[in-house]
Amino acid sequence: MQSITDIDLGTPQPKTDKTVRVVIDGRPIEVAEGSSVMRAAALAGTKVPRLCSTDSLDPFGSCRLCLVEIEGRRGYPASCTTPVEDGMQVRTQSDRLADLRRGVMELYISDHPLDCLTCPANGHCELQDMAGAVGLREVRYGYEGANHLDAQPDTSNPYFTFDPSKCIVCSRCVRACEETQGTFALTIDGRGFESHIAAGMNEPFMDSECVSCGACVQACPTATLMEKSVYAQGQPDRTVTTTCAYCGVGCSFKAEVKGNQVVRMVPNKDGQANHGHSCVKGRFAFGYTNHPDRITTPMIRKSIDDPWEEVSWERALGHAASEFKRIQETYGQGAVGGITSSRCTNEETYLVQKLIRAAFGNNNVDTCARVCHSPTGYGLKTTLGTSAGTQAFESVVDADVVMVIGANPTDGHPVFASQMKRRLRAGANLIVVDPRVIDLVRTPHIAADYHLKLRPGTNVAVINGLAHVIVTEGLANDAFANERCDPEEYAEWKEFVGQEKYSPENVERMSGVPADTIRQAARLFAKGPNSAIYYGLGVTEHSQGSTMVIGMANLAMATGNMGREGVGVSPLRGQNNVQGSCDMGSFPHELPGYRHLSDSVTREAFEKDWGVALDPEPGLRIPNMFDAALDGSFKGMYIQGEDFVQSDPNTRHIESAMRSMECVIVQDLFLNETAKFAHIFFPGSTFLEKDGTFTNAERRIQLVRKVMPPVAGMADWEITQAFSNALGYAMTYTHPSEIMDEIARLTPTFQGVSFEKIDRLGSVQWPCNEKMPEGTPTMHVGQFVRGKGKFVITEYVETDERSSRKFPLLLTTGRILTQYNVGAQTRRTPNLEWHTEDVLEIHPHDAEQRGIVHGTRVSIASRAGETVLTAHVTERMQPGVVYTTFHHPLCGTNVVTTENSDWATNCPEYKVTAVQVAPVTELSEWQEEHQQFSDRQEALLKQREAIKA
Ligand code: SF4
Ligand code: SF4
Ligand code: SF4
Ligand code: FES
Repeated sequence: MQSITDIDLGTPQPKTDKTVRVVIDGRPIEVAEGSSVMRAAALAGTKVPRLCSTDSLDPFGSCRLCLVEIEGRRGYPASCTTPVEDGMQVRTQSDRLADLRRGVMELYISDHPLDCLTCPANGHCELQDMAGAVGLREVRYGYEGANHLDAQPDTSNPYFTFDPSKCIVCSRCVRACEETQGTFALTIDGRGFESHIAAGMNEPFMDSECVSCGACVQACPTATLMEKSVYAQGQPDRTVTTTCAYCGVGCSFKAEVKGNQVVRMVPNKDGQANHGHSCVKGRFAFGYTNHPDRITTPMIRKSIDDPWEEVSWERALGHAASEFKRIQETYGQGAVGGITSSRCTNEETYLVQKLIRAAFGNNNVDTCARVCHSPTGYGLKTTLGTSAGTQAFESVVDADVVMVIGANPTDGHPVFASQMKRRLRAGANLIVVDPRVIDLVRTPHIAADYHLKLRPGTNVAVINGLAHVIVTEGLANDAFANERCDPEEYAEWKEFVGQEKYSPENVERMSGVPADTIRQAARLFAKGPNSAIYYGLGVTEHSQGSTMVIGMANLAMATGNMGREGVGVSPLRGQNNVQGSCDMGSFPHELPGYRHLSDSVTREAFEKDWGVALDPEPGLRIPNMFDAALDGSFKGMYIQGEDFVQSDPNTRHIESAMRSMECVIVQDLFLNETAKFAHIFFPGSTFLEKDGTFTNAERRIQLVRKVMPPVAGMADWEITQAFSNALGYAMTYTHPSEIMDEIARLTPTFQGVSFEKIDRLGSVQWPCNEKMPEGTPTMHVGQFVRGKGKFVITEYVETDERSSRKFPLLLTTGRILTQYNVGAQTRRTPNLEWHTEDVLEIHPHDAEQRGIVHGTRVSIASRAGETVLTAHVTERMQPGVVYTTFHHPLCGTNVVTTENSDWATNCPEYKVTAVQVAPVTELSEWQEEHQQFSDRQEALLKQREAIKA
């Protein structure tokens, strides 16, 4: 259903620079060649009546309401399907046209409920608008004939209803599902009067393939497909444009609000990352923001066995400051540290690292990127000179070959996946490198040309095998590599990958991927001409994560796939602002902008600006903080919006570390798993309650705008500022834009960034400076950021985590569409209906060998620990490999994962854990303990009410 703000020009903008001149109702106008007459008329200020067209979809020409007269042509062509021609003269209004349109509308209205006054779309319904536009006053056919008014609504989807009695069969929903989303869940079933919209095989929406992206709801001109929130709350009265706080795609939304309540989130057509599309999380799963579990008052307690006491902000901040001072006086300056949040804004993240460096006086700061994309930072900086992806999402439109490695975009980055699928349906080739049959391998109208179904842990062998074929068959782009990179290093690399050791046959032995598939995929990638690599945590979360990132950059440089549209190496980053949190200096060895602490010029610039001396020594990484806590030398931690007790590997180890600290401060929305070990709780704010910026996977900085006041009284940046002031280091910002001004002042890649500029341009992709004042969509054009691209040798080293007689299977982990990260937000929304628990996917052969039946409980045991999940027997898996997600605390996936990590960055090896799986009936020992601990913590939380009373 239409948004309250969008202007719809009827049909899409053609992609051309050529223009033609036409005359609409006597008014001359110049429009893009290929525009429809309807679009030209809309640009000339005339809205031709229409129902079946909308400018996000190709025209269909079914409603016959948009008829016009064209000089020199017979009849009344539909303006939505008629392209303009130079010199064309169009008339959109005449008595005859008015008659024809009224006739069409009479037919529609004669089979439509006349409940406008009580309809949730009243005032925002295109059918109602059109009845007014054509001047409909009576329906000559009456309302007594055959009709669909008794058709029953489908309310199965938790977020929207489908009321077929209001359907005008315009097929906008069907086309949205196909063209925009690429799921093909809807069809028009039946013929003539019997034709109707069918989900799946004429099933309820919830039972069909529908992924609840909302594109059909957005496209529907009537109240047939309608958000349940609009039924419940009525039409919104204002909108605020903001950015999704879930994944790294960074979709822009218009929050439609009534009072201080969000009625719905409407994807922003002008959003430069999402172009008006969304997924189920950003579109619908915002209910957690006012969930009763939200903690809205600061709390303190002496030990984690005590009940919480609600206190004023002043008392909580004062207590936190005195505890941290006490710890530093007793155990030393380095005994405290903090974690920035990749869910918070750039400004908030920047403030936390500033607090740690300037007020704590050490560099013990880290972020969740440690456990996801730190190898991306290391690998891309080493080879190309900058720690970020090379392309904008839009670049995929120009790709001829797309290689997806260790990523599952339809689940993890759904809106980008829809864009990628459009390109694939239009003819680009697809290579998937993944141990599992992800949806992209075979989805409606798309089939991967090659699926390299490798054994977990063998990425580097496979990338070397692909490079081997390209180099030994003379398919490399020597001219590009020799000109843009160091020729000597390139020659060494060619010799390295050309070794027999990395022949397809040998790589087949290492990885399980057939030699012929490696050869064919390599040839396809080299042929391009534009070949692009997209990758995810299936690349980085390995003991050789950084090596693999380097290997992909090597391959792209060797084939000349860098520095233009349609190519490049693009990480699909997980959390909404994980790029930003890394950019903002969240790592213990780097100041904002990825500048090493040992760089005295940079350090001095910060010292001067901040008015303090900075410790030149890098601080502790997250795993080192845990180790130091267990050693007794690290005693206090400030954690902003991060739940590592659930998300990080080897849960038992982390739990012990948490118990050994004296003051853990958690700033979050809920009593999450980490907060259960906290002594001080600062109630945080959601993305709807603050101003700031997020940076998505394309380096795109977008504004987050406050929709409502923070429910706990302070936005996260204000809490950090108040904590700093309580510690005695003054911070006096009055708005996050002032923090961004400071970031720009001190960080060359952000030099030209300001809130005003982002507001004006919609977004800015860094680097943004004097040379590129409006930002940089594509990196490394003409020259790599580091000067010459660097080829680095990527020797394959088998992980220590191997299957054995005791642990014969390899566990790999990932995520699913409807849940996000630790699930703290999405589990508090109806998204839970799609995913009530994490399950273990296992191949039928492995299941049969172990007597495992689909839907029954199995234990998964590794050398780190054991948990129990429900088994899903599926051929998605290859024999010898099992898979699960980590969205539910009790499922305890990370009890099983180990502390193995990337050699360069300590990024944990989540993707390879040797395990044994066996049928069981009871929960594991850890689960029993966890349940008891959790219940006890919930009870202690509840007691705060009693204390207050
Ligand atoms: S919600 Fe999305 S996936 Fe579901 S039917 Fe509508 S467009 Fe298709
Ligand atoms: S559900 Fe809406 S969009 Fe789909 S055919 Fe019916 S009226 Fe058109
Ligand atoms: S794709 Fe990512 S950014 Fe976009 S709506 Fe979904 S979760 Fe939000
Ligand atoms: S809008 Fe042109 S035929 Fe429906």
